[in-house]
Amino acid sequence: MTDSPMADTAVAARSATTDFNGRTILVTGASGGIGAATVRQLAAAGAKVIASARTLDSLAALCDETGAQRLVFDLTSEESIKDAVEGLALWGVVNCGGFGGEIATPQDTDIDVFDKVISVNARGALLVIKHAVPSMIRQGNGGAIVNVSSQASMVALHGHISYGSSKAALDNITRVSALELGKHNIRVNSVNPTVVMTDMSNFYWGRPEIGGPFLEQMPLGRWATVDEVAAPIVFLLSDAASMINGVSLPIDGGYTSR
Ligand SMILES: NC(=O)c1ccc[n+]([C@@H]2O[C@H](COP(=O)([O-])OP(=O)(O)OC[C@H]3O[C@@H](n4cnc5c(N)ncnc54)[C@H](OP(=O)(O)O)[C@@H]3O)[C@@H](O)[C@H]2O)c1
Repeated sequence: MTDSPMADTAVAARSATTDFNGRTILVTGASGGIGAATVRQLAAAGAKVIASARTLDSLAALCDETGAQRLVFDLTSEESIKDAVEGLALWGVVNCGGFGGEIATPQDTDIDVFDKVISVNARGALLVIKHAVPSMIRQGNGGAIVNVSSQASMVALHGHISYGSSKAALDNITRVSALELGKHNIRVNSVNPTVVMTDMSNFYWGRPEIGGPFLEQMPLGRWATVDEVAAPIVFLLSDAASMINGVSLPIDGGYTSR
């Protein structure tokens, strides 16, 4: 209940731009920390969610909880992606599936790990866009895509030669896709989070001698939560962000602004 008719109108206008009204949105990496939080927030905002990972089992509990549909494919295989995604009546996509690779200097890099990181994080996301977009264009309803990149694409981080390069490639995929798909009213943006303590990051950033000095350099001085990354993803997908296209949005407590 609000105090005035004006306030009621403002509330109605706000929910009209953030309610997904049954639009279908594919989330890759849905079995992971950030992906699962994104599925939960999108379902709560009225989206019909398709949650994806490599195995059905890894998605079972989340899909039971949220009503999301399950879809299995491997981001390293174009055939697997094409078979799963081509022709789906999607309105939106969240490219959240990712692989951390290794912590290494350029001279110590295992180039097979570099190839796999690029294959999952950049090539895989591009292939999802490649096979999702034709039916989005055919439906003619516009749409939105959010790529989950990283602060590691924007600044040099020790040990992040492969991962940072893969996310920098992903940011370029965002910009060029935004340029190409704008005429179809399909927006494409990236989010670039700082560290979230999930399976991917804990082994490295959870070490006090690594995490401590890093947090001293960050204005907010703490790690992000999965919900603090999922909320901007949902915002960028929503009509509240209808004029935002081609950006890489840091979610980093101010780290890259220094
Ligand atoms: N955690 C962080 O600190 C952080 C910071 C910035 C950006 N990010 C980015 O945020 C995204 C999610 O990260 P997270 O921390 O939530 O990771 P996570 O908990 O480790 O989950 C990774 C997700 O990616 C999926 N995946 C990995 N390899 C795949 C493949 N070959 N094919 C299909 N799916 C695959 C996994 O699915 P399976 O169940 O099939 O393994 C899982 O759902 C990633 O893109 C990551 O780079 C993370």
